Amino acid sequence: MEKTKQEKLSRIKEEAILGGGIEKIKAQHEKGKLTARERIELMVDDGSFEEIDLFVKHRSRDFGLENEQYLGDGVVTGFAKIDGKSVALFSQDFTVFGGSLSETHSEKIVKVMNMAMKLGIPIIGLNDSGGARIQEGVLSLGGYADIFLLNTLASGVVPQISVILGPCAGGAVYSPAITDFIFMVRNTSYMFVTGPNVVKTVTHEEVNFENLGGADTHAIKSGVAHFVHENEIETLNGVRRLLSYLPSNYLERAADKDFDLASLKSDSRFENIIPDNPTKPYDMKELINLLVDDQDFMEVHSEYAENIIVGFGRLGGISVGIVANQPEVLAGVLDINSSVKGARFVRFCDAFNIPLLVLVDVPGFLPGTEQEWNGIIRHGAKLLFAFCEATVPKVTLIVRKAYGGAYDVMNSKHIRGDFNFAWPSAEIAVMGPKGAVEIIFKKEISKSENPDELLNKKLSEYTEKFANPYIAAERGFIDDVINPKETKIKLVNAFNLLKSKVDKNPKKKHSNIPL
Ligand code: HXC
Repeated sequence: MEKTKQEKLSRIKEEAILGGGIEKIKAQHEKGKLTARERIELMVDDGSFEEIDLFVKHRSRDFGLENEQYLGDGVVTGFAKIDGKSVALFSQDFTVFGGSLSETHSEKIVKVMNMAMKLGIPIIGLNDSGGARIQEGVLSLGGYADIFLLNTLASGVVPQISVILGPCAGGAVYSPAITDFIFMVRNTSYMFVTGPNVVKTVTHEEVNFENLGGADTHAIKSGVAHFVHENEIETLNGVRRLLSYLPSNYLERAADKDFDLASLKSDSRFENIIPDNPTKPYDMKELINLLVDDQDFMEVHSEYAENIIVGFGRLGGISVGIVANQPEVLAGVLDINSSVKGARFVRFCDAFNIPLLVLVDVPGFLPGTEQEWNGIIRHGAKLLFAFCEATVPKVTLIVRKAYGGAYDVMNSKHIRGDFNFAWPSAEIAVMGPKGAVEIIFKKEISKSENPDELLNKKLSEYTEKFANPYIAAERGFIDDVINPKETKIKLVNAFNLLKSKVDKNPKKKHSNIPL
């Protein structure tokens, strides 16, 4: 090739790499934000990024945009490797029209998404955008809708991860919302349907960006964000870590890590987790950390609905999704938010062949008008539905309470738990001893000359009879009551055996989960 032609190509590429120009890059850095390309370089394996569509320009001829052209049109797209596995990605470039989404910008995103589905590889979107490119009007709205449709079609086919690294406003939030996981960064990323000014006009509320749609708001209050980090570097590392637990698509299993089964030993630390007093709280994360390989547990939604814990870990090298009640928060009761949080996680794991480990210590569903009027029936049903529907390997360990409907819901044998274990401390019953005795023996106790004595007598009788795992085990609802010391060995063996599990749901168009 002629030297001049090569020089022309190099010149074009050098120009493209500068996006909106050096001044805009400087402004981006001054806000504590990285550029679209710096983010990609940090997130992917060294030198693995293969860009496409660098030459694309917008086609707008309105509002003087015909004179303002940038190569790539505000989004960098392509393919790369993360820990050796291929991913498709797009990274919005705020230095070009504030990363706003034009017709061509959306076409680039749609192109990599379509390729990702054909290749069966995860899609990662790095979002930093002022939303629809205002000058393009309905063309950019159409572009968003094209992305929403593909997000929906790709759901359950390949994992989709959204990383919010700047503003994300208007209908634009709905692409991340459809994806599987949302990462946010404290102080620099925002998500809202309408910004503070519109909120003030409509509801007269005074609220700033951070409070309305900052990372903490979505991590703690709304549950929109699954992961929050202090800065962009930690966030991008978080994406790498998350991918390590996932397969590339719905036909694969997440890769096992090497694990020496001979190294498994009984471990007496499991015996010290449950307090002697059955009403005393304790931290379920202690149990989780003892169980997972290298104490490496990646919690999802760690600050939202903390009465249930969900996240990824490895057991004997096998990637598993863990769902656990947290007795330390609201006694581990199931309520609306914890049910929805758990249900979405269970469905993700089931969609991508990630086995489920369910750790149970649950006193039941939360009573009260607030819960009933807001639909605990409908929302609690989501968790029940998700566990019922899941066909991945499902292992349950009841460590203490499993009361009432919550016993059924938390991956009981009856809803296709493959291995259901219990510790000797398990209490499996319709309700806790006190509530049960007060109902069953109400008349006798009220007529008794010594009601306290009778209550205590009945309590100890009931506790002796029902607050244990043996009645359930007699029926085969519990496969084995295990010595806590042997917990990890039992679970690792179970998940190894279940690797060849095949189960199916009846043929249908799709199910109708109670939304
Ligand atoms: C075109 C935009 C733009 C947009 C920002 N810019 N948003 N250009 N369309 N939507 C341009 C700005 O004009 C500016 O260009 C550059 O990007 C940087 O923007 P600044 O305002 O200087 O940056 P900053 O102060 O950091 O504020 C960022 C911002 C603000 C909060 C995002 O720009 C903003 O409020 N933009 C509008 C947001 C919005 O209302 N979007 C439409 C939402 S509705 P110059 O040349 O001056 O550097 C929507 C519908 C989606 O998205 C529907 C899907 C169904």
